[in-house]
This record gives sequence, structure tokens and C-alpha cells, in this order.
Amino acid sequence: MALGNTNSSFGSLSKFFHWLMFALIAFNFSSGWTMADMPKGDFKNLTYLLHKSTGVTVLTLVLARLIWRWMNVQPDLPPTLSPAERMGARTSHWLLYALMFAVPISGYVLISAGGFGFDWYGLFRVPELIGKNEEISDLASAAHYWLTWAFIAMIALHFAAALRHHFQLKDDTLRRMLPGGR
Ligand code: HEM
Repeated sequence: MALGNTNSSFGSLSKFFHWLMFALIAFNFSSGWTMADMPKGDFKNLTYLLHKSTGVTVLTLVLARLIWRWMNVQPDLPPTLSPAERMGARTSHWLLYALMFAVPISGYVLISAGGFGFDWYGLFRVPELIGKNEEISDLASAAHYWLTWAFIAMIALHFAAALRHHFQLKDDTLRRMLPGGR
């Protein structure tokens, strides 16, 4: 399969970004929702470290993904969609990209201002964005919390739209993003 996209299909690099980020973001939701309630100890510390490291990885990958997107053609949306549906699809995709930035950035600000610096997967120090500031850390913590809910809502909408294309409209939209799909 070609690395780049065509007017009708996604290339292997776009699919790789899509599914790798899906796995990393799913991991961060499950760790984020459970780590605060874990009993103190090594496992909890490891989960926080993996959550922060994976979040920063998502932030880096979304940048690379957008650069790749701009270097490529984008497959056309199915011709059967109405203008309103096209606008809905485009707006929801850009909102997803915005949240892929906003969620990790709010987490990054929260730990920087909270003084919870960390080594990326234990390998090297991640630079802190700002100095210690409790007020900013609390604000970023609230933002991180609410943005994750907005993110879940957008992911649910995205998933529902993919299923609608496949089962109701019976077009190629879902199939062409699958690893073996055309
Ligand atoms: C795709 C990226 C990310 C997702 C989906 C995500 C998701 C979540 C979720 C669902 C929570 C639980 C809700 C909450 O208590 O706020 C959480 C908490 C947390 N996240 Fe993230 N997160 C991401 C990136 C990051 C990054 C980059 C960092 C730091 C470098 C980070 C640091 C934290 C911390 C410290 C908490 C605990 C907050 C607290 O206990 O007040 N997250 N995250």
C-alpha cells in the first residue's frame, strides 16, 4: 500500500497515525480515570508516569500528523453527503484535532505549574512549560477534566458517524481507514 493518500483512499502513514493515536488516547482515558483512586505505591506512580509520557507523545504525534496531512491530498468525502453533512464532518474533524492539542496541553500545564515534572518513560527529562504556580495548576486541572469530557463527546460522535456510513449509507468511509482496507 502506498505511503501517501490519494483522492479516494488513505495511505499507510495516515492510517498508522490514526490507529496509533487511537490506542494511545484510549490508554490515557483508562489510566486517567483510574490512577487518582489507586492506593499509593509503585503501581500508581508508574501509571502516572505512563499517563504523562503517553500524553506528551500524543501531543508530538498530532503535530507530525497535521504536517503529514498538509503535505498530502485528502480523500474526498462521499458525494452522497449534503452540504450541511459535509460541513458537519469537516467541523467535527477540526474539533477533534483541536482537542488532541488542548487535552494534552492542559495536562502538561497542570503538571508543570504543580511541580510534578517527569522523565519521558523514565528516559529523559521533559522540559517544564512554566514555573510552579498553584492557581494556574488548579485552573489547568479543571480545564483538563472538562476538555476530556468534550473529547469523549466528539469521539462518540465520530464513532457514530463512522458506523452510520458503514451500516446505513453503505459507503466506503469506514473501510478506507481500516488497516487492510483499500
Ligand atoms: C491525549 C492525552 C490525554 C488524555 C486523553 C488524558 C486524559 C485524562 C483523564 C480522563 C483524566 C481524569 C480526569 C481528571 O481528573 O482530570 C486525566 C487526569 C490527569 N492527567 Fe491526563 N490526559 C492526557 C494527557 C495528559 C498529559 C500530557 C499530562 C501531563 C504531562 C496529563 C496529566 C494528568 C494528570 C496529572 C492527571 C490527574 C489530575 C488530577 O488528579 O487532578 N495528562 N487525564
